[in-house]
This record gives sequence, C-alpha cells and structure tokens, in this order.
Amino acid sequence: MKVIVITGASDGIGAEMARQLAHTHGSGVALVLAARSESMLAQVSGQCEALGAQSLVVQTDVTVQEQCNRLVAAAIERFGRIDALINNAGRSAHALFEEVADLGWYEELMRINLWGSVWCTHAALAHLKASKGSIVAVSSIVGLVGVPGRTAYAATKFAMTGFFETLRMELKGAGVSVTTAYPGVVATKVRVRGFNAEGKPAGVSKLKEDDAMSVEECARLIIDGMNRREREVVMTAKAKLGRFLKLVAPGVVEDMALAAVKDDAKPR
Ligand SMILES: NC(=O)c1ccc[n+]([C@@H]2O[C@H](COP(=O)([O-])OP(=O)(O)OC[C@H]3O[C@@H](n4cnc5c(N)ncnc54)[C@H](OP(=O)(O)O)[C@@H]3O)[C@@H](O)[C@H]2O)c1
Repeated sequence: MKVIVITGASDGIGAEMARQLAHTHGSGVALVLAARSESMLAQVSGQCEALGAQSLVVQTDVTVQEQCNRLVAAAIERFGRIDALINNAGRSAHALFEEVADLGWYEELMRINLWGSVWCTHAALAHLKASKGSIVAVSSIVGLVGVPGRTAYAATKFAMTGFFETLRMELKGAGVSVTTAYPGVVATKVRVRGFNAEGKPAGVSKLKEDDAMSVEECARLIIDGMNRREREVVMTAKAKLGRFLKLVAPGVVEDMALAAVKDDAKPR
C-alpha cells in the first residue's frame, strides 16, 4: 500500500488530489490529510474512504515546525512508511508593495508557502529515502514569472522553485523524485482567501479568472507528473512561453503579466 501525505488537503487542489488518488488506488492507498480545518479535512477523509482508501486526518498548521514534525510522526505511527509527500498547503496574496504599511504578513506568507514545505520535507526525508519515494512541491506560474501586485507571493514561490530544484539534484542518487508544479489560474478560493495590503483576507480576486483551469484538471496534471517522476509540471502555454520569452524579450513578458491583472488592481 502507498502512503501519501498531502498538506493543504482540506479544500481546493489538495482535497481534489486526495479524492483522485483514492479513486485511482482504492484500498491500495493511505492518504494522510493535513491542514488547519479539522472539520473540512474530516469531510475529505470521508469522501476518500467512501472510495475505498484508508485515511488519517492530522490537524496541522504548517507555519509551526513542530506541527510539521508531528504530521510526519503521525503518518509513520499509523502506516509505517511514506511513499510521497505533496507540499501543497499555501496562501495567496495581492497588494502593490507601496500600499503595504506593515510587512508582517510577508513573513507569515513565507512561513506558509516556503517554510511549511521545507519543514515537512525535512521531517519526511529519511522515510522518503527508505521508500525511494516522491516529493511534490506546488509552486505557481508566479514562481517562474513575476506579476504586478504579487511581490510577496512571487518571493515565496520563486523560493520554493529554487529550494526544490536544488533538492532534486541532491536526491538524484537516492532515488527520490522531486516534482515542482506550476499551476496558472485555477478555479479555487485561493485568491479570495489571500492576503490584501492590510494582511486581511482579500475577499475578491484581483486576477482575470475567465480562463481558469478546473481544479480537477490541475489535480490530475500534478498527480500524473508525480507518477511519471517528472521534474516539472508547467501547466499553461502562457507559463511555458513566459519562462523562455523573458530571457530574450522581458518587456513582452512584463506586458503579458500586467494584462493578467484586473484594471483596478494595476499599478498607477
Ligand atoms: N488556485 C490557483 O489558481 C493556484 C495557482 C498557482 C498555485 N496555487 C497553489 O496551489 C496550492 C493550493 O491552493 P488552492 O488553490 O487549492 O487553494 P485553497 O483552496 O485556498 O486551499 C489551500 C489549502 O492550504 C491550506 N492551508 C492554508 N494555510 C495553511 C497553514 N498555515 N497550514 C496548513 N494548511 C494551510 C488550506 O487549509 P486550512 O485553511 O484548513 O488550513 C487549504 O487546504 C497553494 O500552494 C497555492 O499557492 C494555486
């Protein structure tokens, strides 16, 4: 039986990955579901168990290193091994830098998106080496190309990109794969929940959402990438083009990034 730990499994992409893995593997998978909301995790756990999977809910705030350690310990205590760790927990943010009075939430965002992933990976590493398992990091297109209004978020996701790119090389000989996923705009509540300039939940999305990818497709692409042990899952044509174009024509990419932002959220 495969044991897969998923952070940010209470909603959105993480919850959908859990359901798809349960659907595909049935009784052949045990899902360890982590996030802060125990009641939402319990719902996802019920959905996975109805599909035949085993599951364990571990209430976890990934901004606290001891809780990341406890998550891994709980997985090992219950199932005895870890085959994959999916670092998906994350929060969004949208604010023009000059509008931010207190930068405290910039640090908080780094603890959620970067440090949560680093701490969980550190705690699980020996177990992943033992199983020759897989690590997944859910970064963002904003981990490849900056977008106006996203200094904080881009910093966390570029940091994830660099951390996991380097770790991938370090773990090559150990047989542990590291897959970094770069979703574009996916239809979840992530932007509504993200920080605004005051460090409060934004309540609205500042990005154009017309072309949003479904959460089902995004989850499927990440799982496929993990199963194939791919280095990267770059999900949209825009991201594929943007990362190369910025080396030769950065001004064009800046215009593309600006065009993704709603008019009332553009820099003045
Ligand atoms: N949706 C997109 O367009 C998009 C695009 C690019 C990248 N991403 C990335 O994809 C990942 C999943 O996002 P999503 O769209 O599925 O968002 P979502 O629906 O808001 O889900 C975010 C998940 O992260 C959890 N989480 C947030 N803070 C946490 C903390 N401190 N400790 C533990 N868990 C925490 C949330 O659970 P609790 O609130 O219960 O803790 C929730 O399960 C994130 O890393 C995000 O940056 C999303």
